[in-house]
Amino acid sequence: MITDNEAQHVNNVKQIFKTIKDRYDFLNHLLSGRRDIAWRKAVVKILSPDIKAVLDLAAGTGDLTIEIARRFPDAIVLGADFVPDMLHLAVEKSKALPKPISYVAADALCLPFPDNHFDAVTMAFGLRNIVRKELALSEMTRVVKPGGIVAVLEMTLPAWWPARLFFHWYLTNVIPFIGSLISRKPSAYEYLSASIHTFLQPEELSVLFSKAGLINIRAKPLTFGICYLHFGTVAKEPANIQSPSS
Ligand SMILES: C[S@@+](CC[C@H](N)C(=O)[O-])C[C@H]1O[C@@H](n2cnc3c(N)ncnc32)[C@H](O)[C@@H]1O
Repeated sequence: MITDNEAQHVNNVKQIFKTIKDRYDFLNHLLSGRRDIAWRKAVVKILSPDIKAVLDLAAGTGDLTIEIARRFPDAIVLGADFVPDMLHLAVEKSKALPKPISYVAADALCLPFPDNHFDAVTMAFGLRNIVRKELALSEMTRVVKPGGIVAVLEMTLPAWWPARLFFHWYLTNVIPFIGSLISRKPSAYEYLSASIHTFLQPEELSVLFSKAGLINIRAKPLTFGICYLHFGTVAKEPANIQSPSS
């Protein structure tokens, strides 16, 4: 049962992305010094060359979805997000591709897909907006075939103290200032900054991956650890089922 606070949070998140959508891509590239492009490419690199069906969840304006579709032109690539206004921009951007990408409005906490359906599910910069991270990860795991991959790209405060100090300063001062100047939505960029500040450390997220039934879990630091690529494989059998003799 969803609490009032969670419902309020979900509404805020939807409202934020709905209102910043037009400046979202520009500010992403500007505020990350275009590193976001390389980070998404890092996700695509870990996907198996044999993948046939991929879901990019929290797809937003489709940058990762499009990157996947470019790299795997024969695969069926689907983007999903619960803010249709973000997806409309993704649809527009995807028109340049030789093969269409399908986008669906869907909540990460209740995916409208059958079990064992995709070869991979990806999510870039979405998980920190979700309160029920365990449920989102278990839904992602559910819809991936055994042996398939779940990959999450997320920002975090780096462990290495000089990078941590710098990034803390950048999150506190630069992102809210530039974000509000360009988007004219100060609260949105204050929220985005705070959501990175409070996001899980890589080892904490690895625990959640494991609880979701993923194995061979890895957390790869990118750009001094301000961004991490977390990924794991869906176990061939549910990880929490024990043999009768144990
Ligand atoms: C920071 S944007 C990331 C967009 C895109 N993946 C990218 O790489 O730029 C976060 C996206 O997550 C979506 N989102 C947040 N919570 C969600 C949920 N529970 N279900 C589906 N989408 C969600 C938001 O609507 C937003 O479009």
